[in-house]
Amino acid sequence: MFKRWLLLAGMLLIVLVGGYFAWAQGTFGSNTHQWEAADLRVLRSLSLDALPPLPPDPSNAVSDDPRAAALGQVLFSDTQFSANGQFSCATCHQPDKFFTDGLPKGQAMGTTPRHTPTIVGVAYDPWFYWDGRRDSQWAQALTPLEAAAEHGTNRTRVAHTVAEFYADKYEAIFGPLPELSRLPGEAGPVVDPITRAAWDSMSETDQHAVNRIFANVGKVLAAYQRQIMPGRSRFDDYVTAAVAGDQSAMSDLFNADEVAGLRIFMGAGNCTQCHNGPLFTNASFHNNGIPAEAGVNFDMGRVDGVLQALADPFNCLGAYSDADPSDCAETRFAKTDGDEIIGAFKTPTLRNVANTAPYMHKGTFADLDAVLNHYNLAPAAFPGHSDLLPLELTDQEIAQLKAFLFTLSADAEISMNDE
Ligand code: HEC
Ligand code: HEC
Repeated sequence: MFKRWLLLAGMLLIVLVGGYFAWAQGTFGSNTHQWEAADLRVLRSLSLDALPPLPPDPSNAVSDDPRAAALGQVLFSDTQFSANGQFSCATCHQPDKFFTDGLPKGQAMGTTPRHTPTIVGVAYDPWFYWDGRRDSQWAQALTPLEAAAEHGTNRTRVAHTVAEFYADKYEAIFGPLPELSRLPGEAGPVVDPITRAAWDSMSETDQHAVNRIFANVGKVLAAYQRQIMPGRSRFDDYVTAAVAGDQSAMSDLFNADEVAGLRIFMGAGNCTQCHNGPLFTNASFHNNGIPAEAGVNFDMGRVDGVLQALADPFNCLGAYSDADPSDCAETRFAKTDGDEIIGAFKTPTLRNVANTAPYMHKGTFADLDAVLNHYNLAPAAFPGHSDLLPLELTDQEIAQLKAFLFTLSADAEISMNDE
Protein backbone atom coordinates (compact mmCIF):
# COMPACT_ATOMS: atom_id res chain seq x y z
CA MET A 1 0.00 0.00 0.00
CA PHE A 2 2.65 2.44 1.12
CA LYS A 3 4.80 1.43 -1.87
CA ARG A 4 1.98 2.20 -4.27
CA TRP A 5 1.57 5.70 -2.82
CA LEU A 6 5.26 6.24 -3.18
CA LEU A 7 5.08 5.17 -6.79
CA LEU A 8 2.18 7.53 -7.48
CA ALA A 9 3.93 10.42 -5.74
CA GLY A 10 7.03 9.71 -7.78
CA MET A 11 5.09 9.74 -11.00
CA LEU A 12 3.39 12.98 -10.04
CA LEU A 13 6.78 14.52 -9.34
CA ILE A 14 8.09 13.44 -12.74
CA VAL A 15 5.07 14.93 -14.47
CA LEU A 16 5.44 18.20 -12.55
CA VAL A 17 9.18 18.52 -13.17
CA GLY A 18 8.80 17.57 -16.82
CA GLY A 19 6.01 20.10 -17.14
CA TYR A 20 8.16 22.78 -15.58
CA PHE A 21 10.97 22.18 -18.05
CA ALA A 22 8.54 22.17 -20.97
CA TRP A 23 7.17 25.47 -19.65
CA ALA A 24 10.66 26.89 -19.16
CA GLN A 25 11.63 25.93 -22.71
CA GLY A 26 8.49 27.64 -24.00
CA THR A 27 9.07 30.76 -21.94
CA PHE A 28 12.77 31.26 -22.53
CA GLY A 29 12.99 29.71 -26.00
CA SER A 30 15.76 27.26 -26.74
CA ASN A 31 18.37 29.66 -25.27
CA THR A 32 17.58 29.15 -21.64
CA HIS A 33 20.19 29.27 -18.95
CA GLN A 34 19.91 25.52 -18.41
CA TRP A 35 23.30 23.83 -18.60
CA GLU A 36 24.04 20.13 -18.72
CA ALA A 37 26.75 18.81 -16.41
CA ALA A 38 29.13 18.35 -19.36
CA ASP A 39 28.59 21.96 -20.49
CA LEU A 40 29.15 23.21 -16.95
CA ARG A 41 32.50 21.45 -16.90
CA VAL A 42 33.52 23.26 -20.09
CA LEU A 43 32.22 26.57 -18.75
CA ARG A 44 34.22 26.15 -15.56
CA SER A 45 37.37 25.36 -17.53
CA LEU A 46 37.00 28.65 -19.43
CA SER A 47 36.54 30.81 -16.35
CA LEU A 48 39.36 32.90 -14.88
CA ASP A 49 38.66 31.04 -11.64
CA ALA A 50 40.26 28.01 -13.31
CA LEU A 51 43.49 29.86 -14.10
CA PRO A 52 46.29 28.12 -12.20
CA PRO A 53 49.05 30.16 -10.55
CA LEU A 54 51.69 31.21 -13.09
CA PRO A 55 54.40 28.54 -13.06
CA PRO A 56 57.93 29.74 -12.35
CA ASP A 57 60.27 30.38 -15.29
CA PRO A 58 63.43 28.45 -14.39
CA SER A 59 65.33 30.12 -17.25
CA ASN A 60 64.85 33.51 -15.53
CA ALA A 61 66.13 33.58 -11.94
CA VAL A 62 64.54 37.00 -11.31
CA SER A 63 61.19 36.23 -12.92
CA ASP A 64 59.33 36.61 -9.63
CA ASP A 65 61.58 39.21 -7.97
CA PRO A 66 59.51 42.36 -7.30
CA ARG A 67 62.59 44.58 -7.77
CA ALA A 68 63.06 43.13 -11.23
CA ALA A 69 59.38 43.67 -12.07
CA ALA A 70 59.55 47.28 -10.87
CA LEU A 71 62.63 48.00 -13.00
CA GLY A 72 61.07 46.15 -15.93
CA GLN A 73 57.97 48.31 -15.72
CA VAL A 74 60.09 51.47 -16.03
CA LEU A 75 62.14 50.08 -18.93
CA PHE A 76 58.97 49.00 -20.72
CA SER A 77 58.09 52.62 -21.41
CA ASP A 78 61.59 54.19 -21.47
CA THR A 79 62.17 55.64 -24.95
CA GLN A 80 65.94 55.89 -24.32
CA PHE A 81 66.14 52.27 -25.43
CA SER A 82 65.41 53.17 -29.05
CA ALA A 83 67.65 54.48 -31.81
CA ASN A 84 66.00 57.91 -31.99
CA GLY A 85 64.83 58.20 -28.38
CA GLN A 86 61.16 58.16 -29.38
CA PHE A 87 59.94 54.58 -29.05
CA SER A 88 59.48 52.04 -26.29
CA CYS A 89 57.68 48.73 -25.84
CA ALA A 90 54.63 50.77 -24.79
CA THR A 91 54.55 52.49 -28.20
CA CYS A 92 53.11 49.29 -29.64
CA HIS A 93 51.91 47.52 -26.47
CA GLN A 94 49.76 50.32 -25.07
CA PRO A 95 48.38 49.65 -21.59
CA ASP A 96 45.11 51.48 -22.37
CA LYS A 97 44.52 49.25 -25.41
CA PHE A 98 45.08 45.96 -23.57
CA PHE A 99 48.71 46.22 -24.71
CA THR A 100 47.98 46.44 -28.42
CA ASP A 101 48.23 49.41 -30.80
CA GLY A 102 45.04 49.34 -32.89
CA LEU A 103 47.07 49.11 -36.12
CA PRO A 104 47.30 46.33 -38.72
CA LYS A 105 51.13 46.36 -38.34
CA GLY A 106 53.33 47.75 -35.55
CA GLN A 107 54.89 51.17 -36.19
CA ALA A 108 58.08 52.53 -34.60
CA MET A 109 61.42 53.02 -36.39
CA GLY A 110 59.69 51.27 -39.31
CA THR A 111 56.73 48.97 -39.92
CA THR A 112 56.79 45.44 -38.52
CA PRO A 113 55.98 42.52 -40.85
CA ARG A 114 53.23 41.29 -38.53
CA HIS A 115 50.45 42.62 -36.31
CA THR A 116 51.06 43.59 -32.66
CA PRO A 117 49.43 40.99 -30.37
CA THR A 118 48.31 41.67 -26.81
CA ILE A 119 50.72 40.59 -24.09
CA VAL A 120 47.98 40.14 -21.46
CA GLY A 121 48.32 36.63 -20.02
CA VAL A 122 50.93 35.46 -22.57
CA ALA A 123 53.34 34.62 -19.73
CA TYR A 124 51.52 31.27 -19.57
CA ASP A 125 52.57 30.36 -23.11
CA PRO A 126 55.60 28.17 -23.78
CA TRP A 127 56.39 30.03 -27.02
CA PHE A 128 56.40 33.73 -27.92
CA TYR A 129 55.55 35.56 -31.12
CA TRP A 130 52.94 34.52 -33.66
CA ASP A 131 55.40 31.92 -34.98
CA GLY A 132 56.84 31.01 -31.56
CA ARG A 133 60.37 32.01 -32.53
CA ARG A 134 61.39 32.57 -28.91
CA ASP A 135 61.05 30.10 -26.03
CA SER A 136 60.84 32.54 -23.11
CA GLN A 137 59.42 35.95 -22.41
CA TRP A 138 62.86 37.33 -21.58
CA ALA A 139 64.43 36.07 -24.82
CA GLN A 140 61.47 37.60 -26.65
CA ALA A 141 61.99 40.99 -24.99
CA LEU A 142 65.52 41.29 -26.44
CA THR A 143 64.39 40.91 -30.02
CA PRO A 144 62.45 44.20 -30.54
CA LEU A 145 65.40 46.18 -29.10
CA GLU A 146 67.63 45.16 -32.01
CA ALA A 147 64.91 44.88 -34.68
CA ALA A 148 65.41 47.64 -37.26
CA ALA A 149 61.65 48.36 -37.53
CA GLU A 150 61.10 48.45 -33.77
CA HIS A 151 63.59 50.02 -31.30
CA GLY A 152 66.42 49.90 -33.87
CA THR A 153 69.09 50.00 -31.16
CA ASN A 154 71.83 47.48 -30.31
CA ARG A 155 72.91 45.53 -27.24
CA THR A 156 76.05 47.53 -26.46
CA ARG A 157 74.03 50.78 -26.53
CA VAL A 158 71.49 49.10 -24.24
CA ALA A 159 74.29 48.15 -21.81
CA HIS A 160 75.64 51.73 -21.81
CA THR A 161 72.15 53.13 -21.18
CA VAL A 162 71.64 50.74 -18.25
CA ALA A 163 75.04 51.78 -16.81
CA GLU A 164 74.25 55.47 -17.25
CA PHE A 165 70.67 55.61 -15.93
CA TYR A 166 69.89 52.43 -14.01
CA ALA A 167 73.20 51.28 -12.45
CA ASP A 168 71.89 51.29 -8.85
CA LYS A 169 68.69 49.41 -9.56
CA TYR A 170 70.46 46.97 -11.86
CA GLU A 171 73.30 46.26 -9.41
CA ALA A 172 70.87 45.74 -6.53
CA ILE A 173 69.43 42.81 -8.49
CA PHE A 174 72.36 41.41 -10.48
CA GLY A 175 75.51 42.61 -8.71
CA PRO A 176 78.20 44.97 -10.04
CA LEU A 177 78.20 46.04 -13.68
CA PRO A 178 81.49 45.50 -15.54
CA GLU A 179 83.55 48.44 -16.80
CA LEU A 180 81.99 49.39 -20.13
CA SER A 181 83.57 52.73 -21.02
CA ARG A 182 86.21 51.29 -23.35
CA LEU A 183 83.60 49.45 -25.45
CA PRO A 184 82.17 50.94 -28.65
CA GLY A 185 79.07 53.10 -28.26
CA GLU A 186 77.08 51.16 -30.83
CA ALA A 187 77.73 47.44 -31.41
CA GLY A 188 75.58 44.39 -31.92
CA PRO A 189 74.83 41.60 -34.43
CA VAL A 190 72.25 43.73 -36.26
CA VAL A 191 71.55 44.52 -39.93
CA ASP A 192 73.42 47.84 -39.95
CA PRO A 193 76.92 46.96 -41.25
CA ILE A 194 78.86 49.50 -39.14
CA THR A 195 77.21 48.42 -35.88
CA ARG A 196 77.76 44.78 -36.82
CA ALA A 197 81.43 45.33 -37.69
CA ALA A 198 81.94 47.05 -34.32
CA TRP A 199 80.44 43.97 -32.64
CA ASP A 200 82.61 41.56 -34.63
CA SER A 201 85.70 43.52 -33.56
CA MET A 202 84.97 43.04 -29.85
CA SER A 203 86.63 40.22 -27.90
CA GLU A 204 84.50 37.24 -26.95
CA THR A 205 84.84 38.19 -23.31
CA ASP A 206 83.50 41.69 -23.97
CA GLN A 207 80.70 40.31 -26.13
CA HIS A 208 79.80 37.94 -23.32
CA ALA A 209 79.77 40.76 -20.75
CA VAL A 210 77.43 42.82 -22.96
CA ASN A 211 75.23 39.81 -23.69
CA ARG A 212 74.83 39.21 -19.98
CA ILE A 213 73.58 42.75 -19.34
CA PHE A 214 71.36 42.54 -22.40
CA ALA A 215 69.88 39.23 -21.20
CA ASN A 216 69.26 40.74 -17.76
CA VAL A 217 67.34 43.62 -19.37
CA GLY A 218 65.14 40.98 -21.00
CA LYS A 219 64.73 39.24 -17.65
CA VAL A 220 63.48 42.36 -15.85
CA LEU A 221 61.13 43.18 -18.76
CA ALA A 222 59.76 39.64 -18.47
CA ALA A 223 59.38 39.92 -14.69
CA TYR A 224 57.14 42.95 -15.26
CA GLN A 225 55.15 41.46 -18.14
CA ARG A 226 54.51 38.25 -16.20
CA GLN A 227 52.27 40.25 -13.90
CA ILE A 228 49.97 41.49 -16.65
CA MET A 229 46.89 39.33 -16.35
CA PRO A 230 43.39 39.73 -17.73
CA GLY A 231 40.77 41.31 -15.50
CA ARG A 232 37.49 39.60 -14.69
CA SER A 233 34.89 39.76 -17.43
CA ARG A 234 31.10 39.47 -17.49
CA PHE A 235 31.62 35.94 -18.83
CA ASP A 236 33.47 34.92 -15.64
CA ASP A 237 30.60 36.22 -13.52
CA TYR A 238 28.17 34.31 -15.71
CA VAL A 239 30.06 31.06 -15.10
CA THR A 240 29.96 31.67 -11.36
CA ALA A 241 26.19 32.11 -11.62
CA ALA A 242 25.86 29.02 -13.84
CA VAL A 243 27.85 26.86 -11.45
CA ALA A 244 25.63 28.05 -8.61
CA GLY A 245 22.55 27.36 -10.76
CA ASP A 246 21.43 30.94 -10.09
CA GLN A 247 18.90 31.53 -12.90
CA SER A 248 18.17 35.13 -12.06
CA ALA A 249 21.86 36.10 -11.84
CA MET A 250 22.48 34.35 -15.16
CA SER A 251 19.67 36.18 -16.90
CA ASP A 252 20.85 39.49 -15.42
CA LEU A 253 24.33 38.88 -16.81
CA PHE A 254 23.69 37.44 -20.30
CA ASN A 255 20.88 38.14 -22.74
CA ALA A 256 19.46 35.42 -25.01
CA ASP A 257 21.82 36.23 -27.90
CA GLU A 258 24.91 36.06 -25.69
CA VAL A 259 23.86 32.66 -24.34
CA ALA A 260 23.14 31.43 -27.85
CA GLY A 261 26.56 32.74 -28.94
CA LEU A 262 28.24 30.94 -26.05
CA ARG A 263 26.53 27.69 -27.07
CA ILE A 264 27.74 28.12 -30.65
CA PHE A 265 31.25 28.91 -29.37
CA MET A 266 31.31 25.62 -27.44
CA GLY A 267 29.32 23.63 -29.99
CA ALA A 268 28.62 24.20 -33.69
CA GLY A 269 31.38 26.82 -34.00
CA ASN A 270 34.00 24.41 -32.68
CA CYS A 271 35.89 27.41 -31.27
CA THR A 272 36.92 25.64 -28.05
CA GLN A 273 38.94 23.17 -30.10
CA CYS A 274 41.67 25.84 -30.05
CA HIS A 275 40.39 28.72 -27.90
CA ASN A 276 40.14 26.79 -24.65
CA GLY A 277 41.15 27.15 -21.00
CA PRO A 278 40.76 30.36 -18.96
CA LEU A 279 42.83 32.35 -21.47
CA PHE A 280 40.85 31.01 -24.43
CA THR A 281 43.97 29.62 -26.10
CA ASN A 282 45.62 26.23 -26.40
CA ALA A 283 48.90 28.17 -26.91
CA SER A 284 49.55 25.93 -29.91
CA PHE A 285 50.06 26.61 -33.63
CA HIS A 286 47.44 26.29 -36.35
CA ASN A 287 47.00 27.21 -39.97
CA ASN A 288 43.73 29.10 -40.31
CA GLY A 289 44.12 29.90 -44.00
CA ILE A 290 44.45 33.64 -43.46
CA PRO A 291 44.72 35.12 -46.97
CA ALA A 292 48.32 35.96 -47.96
CA GLU A 293 49.19 39.59 -48.56
CA ALA A 294 49.74 40.69 -52.14
CA GLY A 295 53.36 41.39 -53.00
CA VAL A 296 54.79 39.90 -49.80
CA ASN A 297 56.65 36.58 -49.46
CA PHE A 298 54.56 33.78 -47.99
CA ASP A 299 54.71 33.76 -44.24
CA MET A 300 55.70 30.21 -43.34
CA GLY A 301 54.89 30.76 -39.64
CA ARG A 302 55.78 28.09 -37.11
CA VAL A 303 57.89 25.92 -39.43
CA ASP A 304 60.45 28.77 -39.59
CA GLY A 305 59.79 30.07 -36.07
CA VAL A 306 60.69 26.84 -34.31
CA LEU A 307 64.10 26.70 -36.04
CA GLN A 308 64.79 30.30 -35.03
CA ALA A 309 63.91 29.51 -31.41
CA LEU A 310 66.31 26.56 -31.41
CA ALA A 311 69.10 28.69 -32.94
CA ASP A 312 68.59 31.60 -30.53
CA PRO A 313 71.65 32.05 -28.25
CA PHE A 314 69.28 33.36 -25.56
CA ASN A 315 67.07 30.25 -25.49
CA CYS A 316 66.41 28.01 -22.50
CA LEU A 317 69.47 25.86 -23.28
CA GLY A 318 71.82 28.79 -23.95
CA ALA A 319 74.61 30.38 -21.91
CA TYR A 320 72.37 33.14 -20.50
CA SER A 321 69.57 30.90 -19.30
CA ASP A 322 69.33 30.12 -15.57
CA ALA A 323 67.63 26.80 -16.27
CA ASP A 324 68.95 23.31 -15.95
CA PRO A 325 68.63 21.60 -19.37
CA SER A 326 66.09 19.25 -17.77
CA ASP A 327 63.83 22.31 -17.28
CA CYS A 328 63.83 22.98 -21.03
CA ALA A 329 61.60 20.13 -22.23
CA GLU A 330 59.54 22.40 -24.55
CA THR A 331 62.70 23.49 -26.32
CA ARG A 332 64.41 20.12 -26.38
CA PHE A 333 61.42 18.25 -27.69
CA ALA A 334 59.94 20.91 -29.96
CA LYS A 335 58.35 19.60 -33.14
CA THR A 336 60.44 20.95 -36.02
CA ASP A 337 58.74 19.58 -39.11
CA GLY A 338 55.44 18.30 -40.47
CA ASP A 339 52.73 19.71 -42.72
CA GLU A 340 50.68 20.98 -39.83
CA ILE A 341 53.24 23.61 -38.79
CA ILE A 342 53.54 25.12 -42.29
CA GLY A 343 51.81 28.49 -42.28
CA ALA A 344 50.74 27.88 -38.68
CA PHE A 345 50.50 30.66 -36.07
CA LYS A 346 49.94 30.72 -32.33
CA THR A 347 46.32 30.73 -31.18
CA PRO A 348 45.81 34.14 -29.55
CA THR A 349 43.82 34.70 -26.36
CA LEU A 350 40.25 35.89 -26.88
CA ARG A 351 40.11 37.80 -23.61
CA ASN A 352 39.32 41.46 -24.38
CA VAL A 353 39.17 40.53 -28.06
CA ALA A 354 36.40 43.06 -28.78
CA ASN A 355 38.88 45.80 -27.79
CA THR A 356 41.94 44.66 -29.74
CA ALA A 357 41.08 45.07 -33.45
CA PRO A 358 42.42 44.57 -36.07
CA TYR A 359 42.91 40.79 -36.02
CA MET A 360 45.18 37.89 -37.02
CA HIS A 361 48.95 37.72 -37.46
CA LYS A 362 48.88 40.19 -40.33
CA GLY A 363 46.13 42.42 -38.97
CA THR A 364 44.14 41.24 -42.00
CA PHE A 365 40.64 41.66 -40.55
CA ALA A 366 39.44 45.08 -39.43
CA ASP A 367 36.64 43.82 -37.19
CA LEU A 368 35.04 40.74 -35.64
CA ASP A 369 32.49 40.50 -38.47
CA ALA A 370 35.33 39.93 -40.91
CA VAL A 371 36.91 37.34 -38.58
CA LEU A 372 33.66 35.40 -38.18
CA ASN A 373 32.94 35.57 -41.88
CA HIS A 374 36.36 33.99 -42.45
CA TYR A 375 35.61 31.18 -39.97
CA ASN A 376 32.24 30.60 -41.59
CA LEU A 377 33.74 30.14 -45.06
CA ALA A 378 37.08 28.57 -44.02
CA PRO A 379 38.86 29.11 -47.35
CA ALA A 380 41.70 26.77 -48.36
CA ALA A 381 45.15 27.74 -47.10
CA PHE A 382 48.30 28.51 -48.99
CA PRO A 383 50.96 27.61 -47.94
CA GLY A 384 50.02 24.50 -45.95
CA HIS A 385 46.57 23.17 -45.06
CA SER A 386 43.82 24.96 -43.15
CA ASP A 387 42.81 23.40 -39.84
CA LEU A 388 39.32 24.87 -40.22
CA LEU A 389 36.11 23.46 -41.65
CA PRO A 390 33.35 25.71 -43.05
CA LEU A 391 30.75 26.35 -40.33
CA GLU A 392 27.71 27.32 -42.38
CA LEU A 393 26.29 29.44 -39.60
CA THR A 394 23.36 31.77 -40.35
CA ASP A 395 23.72 35.55 -40.12
CA GLN A 396 21.81 35.43 -36.86
CA GLU A 397 24.18 32.81 -35.41
CA ILE A 398 27.20 34.87 -36.47
CA ALA A 399 25.71 37.90 -34.73
CA GLN A 400 25.15 35.80 -31.59
CA LEU A 401 28.70 34.50 -31.63
CA LYS A 402 29.95 38.06 -31.92
CA ALA A 403 27.70 39.16 -29.04
CA PHE A 404 29.27 36.44 -26.91
CA LEU A 405 32.83 37.55 -27.78
CA PHE A 406 31.99 40.99 -26.36
CA THR A 407 31.34 39.42 -22.95
CA LEU A 408 35.03 38.48 -22.68
CA SER A 409 36.15 42.05 -22.06
CA ALA A 410 37.29 42.99 -18.58
CA ASP A 411 35.96 46.02 -16.74
CA ALA A 412 39.45 46.85 -15.58
CA GLU A 413 42.05 46.98 -18.31
CA ILE A 414 44.39 44.55 -16.63
CA SER A 415 44.93 43.03 -13.26
CA MET A 416 48.40 43.04 -11.79
CA ASN A 417 49.42 39.79 -10.25
CA ASP A 418 50.89 41.24 -7.05
CA GLU A 419 52.20 38.17 -5.31
C1 HEC B 1 57.00 48.56 -33.39
C2 HEC B 1 56.06 47.96 -32.49
C3 HEC B 1 56.58 47.10 -31.36
C4 HEC B 1 57.47 47.43 -30.37
C5 HEC B 1 58.22 48.73 -30.20
C6 HEC B 1 57.53 46.28 -29.50
N1 HEC B 1 56.70 45.29 -29.95
FE1 HEC B 1 56.31 43.55 -29.04
N2 HEC B 1 55.40 42.90 -30.68
C7 HEC B 1 55.15 43.65 -31.81
C8 HEC B 1 54.74 42.78 -32.89
C9 HEC B 1 54.39 43.23 -34.30
C10 HEC B 1 54.75 41.48 -32.38
C11 HEC B 1 54.45 40.19 -33.15
C12 HEC B 1 55.60 39.94 -34.09
C13 HEC B 1 55.67 38.53 -34.62
O1 HEC B 1 55.03 37.63 -34.08
O2 HEC B 1 56.41 38.30 -35.58
C14 HEC B 1 55.15 41.60 -30.98
C15 HEC B 1 55.22 40.51 -30.09
C16 HEC B 1 55.51 40.66 -28.73
C17 HEC B 1 55.36 39.63 -27.74
C18 HEC B 1 54.88 38.20 -27.99
C19 HEC B 1 53.42 38.04 -27.67
C20 HEC B 1 52.94 36.63 -27.95
O3 HEC B 1 51.72 36.40 -28.04
O4 HEC B 1 53.75 35.72 -28.08
C21 HEC B 1 55.75 40.16 -26.55
C22 HEC B 1 55.75 39.46 -25.20
C23 HEC B 1 56.19 41.51 -26.81
N3 HEC B 1 56.00 41.78 -28.14
C24 HEC B 1 56.78 42.35 -25.88
C25 HEC B 1 57.50 43.49 -26.26
C26 HEC B 1 58.48 44.14 -25.44
C27 HEC B 1 58.90 43.71 -24.05
C28 HEC B 1 58.93 45.23 -26.15
C29 HEC B 1 59.99 46.22 -25.77
C30 HEC B 1 61.32 45.69 -25.48
C31 HEC B 1 58.21 45.22 -27.41
N4 HEC B 1 57.38 44.14 -27.45
C32 HEC B 1 58.34 46.20 -28.38
C33 HEC B 1 55.28 45.01 -31.90
C34 HEC B 1 56.14 45.75 -31.09
C1 HEC C 1 42.05 25.21 -35.43
C2 HEC C 1 42.19 26.10 -34.28
C3 HEC C 1 41.20 27.25 -34.18
C4 HEC C 1 39.82 27.20 -34.20
C5 HEC C 1 38.93 25.98 -34.36
C6 HEC C 1 39.37 28.55 -33.99
N1 HEC C 1 40.43 29.39 -33.88
FE1 HEC C 1 40.35 31.39 -33.70
N2 HEC C 1 42.35 31.51 -33.96
C7 HEC C 1 43.20 30.44 -34.09
C8 HEC C 1 44.49 30.88 -34.53
C9 HEC C 1 45.70 30.00 -34.79
C10 HEC C 1 44.38 32.27 -34.71
C11 HEC C 1 45.47 33.19 -35.28
C12 HEC C 1 45.57 32.86 -36.77
C13 HEC C 1 46.49 33.73 -37.58
O1 HEC C 1 46.69 34.90 -37.26
O2 HEC C 1 47.00 33.22 -38.61
C14 HEC C 1 43.03 32.63 -34.31
C15 HEC C 1 42.54 33.93 -34.27
C16 HEC C 1 41.27 34.27 -33.85
C17 HEC C 1 40.79 35.61 -33.65
C18 HEC C 1 41.64 36.88 -33.80
C19 HEC C 1 42.24 37.26 -32.48
C20 HEC C 1 43.32 38.30 -32.58
O3 HEC C 1 43.69 38.84 -31.53
O4 HEC C 1 43.85 38.55 -33.68
C21 HEC C 1 39.50 35.55 -33.23
C22 HEC C 1 38.58 36.69 -32.88
C23 HEC C 1 39.15 34.14 -33.20
N3 HEC C 1 40.25 33.39 -33.56
C24 HEC C 1 37.91 33.65 -32.83
C25 HEC C 1 37.53 32.33 -33.07
C26 HEC C 1 36.17 31.86 -33.02
C27 HEC C 1 34.97 32.72 -32.66
C28 HEC C 1 36.20 30.55 -33.36
C29 HEC C 1 35.03 29.62 -33.58
C30 HEC C 1 34.13 30.04 -34.64
C31 HEC C 1 37.59 30.19 -33.59
N4 HEC C 1 38.36 31.29 -33.41
C32 HEC C 1 38.03 28.92 -33.94
C33 HEC C 1 42.86 29.12 -33.89
C34 HEC C 1 41.56 28.64 -33.97
